[in-house]
Amino acid sequence: MFNLVKGTHDVILEEAEKYSYIEQILQNTAQIFNYKEFRTPIIEHSELFARSVGDSSDIVRKEMYTFEDKGGRNITLRPEVTAGIVRSMVNAKLFALQDYPVKAYYTGPCFRYERPQQGRYRQFNQFGVECIGITSPHRDAEVISMGYDSLIFLGFKDVTLKINTLGDDESRENYKKALKEYFGKHLENMCSDCKERYELNVLRILDCKVPEDQEIVKNAPKISDFLSENAKNSFETIKRDLDFLGIPYEVDESLVRGLDYYSGVVFEFHYVSSKGKSYGAIGAGGHYGKLVAEVGGPEVEGCGYAFGIERLASVMNDDNLFEDLSDNVDIYLMPLGERANAASLGIANYLRVSGYRCEICLENKGMSQMFKKAERRNALYAIIIGDNELENDEYVIKNLASQEQFKVSSDDLLKTFDELLNFEGKKETECCEGDCCCGDDSKCDSDNDHEENCDENKSCCCKNK
Ligand code: HAM
Repeated sequence: MFNLVKGTHDVILEEAEKYSYIEQILQNTAQIFNYKEFRTPIIEHSELFARSVGDSSDIVRKEMYTFEDKGGRNITLRPEVTAGIVRSMVNAKLFALQDYPVKAYYTGPCFRYERPQQGRYRQFNQFGVECIGITSPHRDAEVISMGYDSLIFLGFKDVTLKINTLGDDESRENYKKALKEYFGKHLENMCSDCKERYELNVLRILDCKVPEDQEIVKNAPKISDFLSENAKNSFETIKRDLDFLGIPYEVDESLVRGLDYYSGVVFEFHYVSSKGKSYGAIGAGGHYGKLVAEVGGPEVEGCGYAFGIERLASVMNDDNLFEDLSDNVDIYLMPLGERANAASLGIANYLRVSGYRCEICLENKGMSQMFKKAERRNALYAIIIGDNELENDEYVIKNLASQEQFKVSSDDLLKTFDELLNFEGKKETECCEGDCCCGDDSKCDSDNDHEENCDENKSCCCKNK
């Protein structure tokens, strides 16, 4: 037996299906905003993260999995994906065309040597987006709205969106001066980390989690008093856009984010499940002004965010947001004997390519054991295939809920399941043979709009086409 490495976890069975479900919805959302998929390596040169995430961040100072490879290179398992995405865009010369914005989405594992706790792992999965070439606060608002929409598509209702601005360079320099002056007076009573942060990047002190230090942080100067006219206007525009889109938000001036590349707007999505549980921010991001240039690209700005899949899955589990996920086997095939085993492979294949989830019992079990297995897999129907059935070219179909059973010829097999499992409506079929394209007038909603494939004169109820 080998134990899991501390801070890691297996994602298996239903949990893995839930992750795929989440990723699929996040991906669909990114695609309707016309983002394109990027897959970048999990290992990068350590220097990339020192430059981007920043030498003064906790991530780079304390949390990176860094090692020297056999060629003497200093390598890091990515603690986040943004830096690698930007590097890939620079390497692929995507900015040479100046056809902005360049838009990427990605999903995959990240690694941070943090203290493991609820919602915090050392290996975790992110789904993120980056929109690069941002010249307008409206773009930032669009990126934030895409994050919000993703959560709505996942079924979230009461998401808290916290936003803040870190201003432009001028605002931040003035703000940092004021913070230095303020924290300078309290530093001797603060933790050793804060003393280091004071020297490295005083903004990081605002992130300190030590309760006594948080009391001091509470009374620190606020960025809003140091914003230049430009920075103020940008932030106001983003807020107005969010209002216009009906996206609720809270301005939280203590939000500074733990990565050094941010400038301008920063944001986090929070959610407390009905069980009262919160697992930290479920997603977060912001605008970055210098990152692209820092990684060797042109002086263009960007904005993006990443969701933590583990945290999304945890709150969605708590609030039953996965209720549509069904792992029913549609049809369980029960072959009796060697000839039937081979035949069932062909029958299952035929049904699978038509979209049915099938499983075959190929372990030469008796009937009662096969029925138990079918039940454990939540199968809806069983097909019993024995020598007689093969001889007569017909199979016994059993409804496992009602226990009714009947015989069907091999020619009618698919048609029968299409009827039994009401699959017809899901498939693209020849349209409007009857009054309604699905052939079942009782399901018709006469107010439905006419569908493209339909006979001109008929309204079509088949919404799934
Ligand atoms: P981040 O806030 O460090 O931002 O991470 C984004 C999300 O990843 C968090 O909101 C959280 O849901 C999840 N996460 C972070 N650390 C852990 C952990 N140890 N265990 C489980 N989940 C975790 C970034 O990584 C930025 N790259 C986001 C971004 C994209 N900004 C601009 N573009």
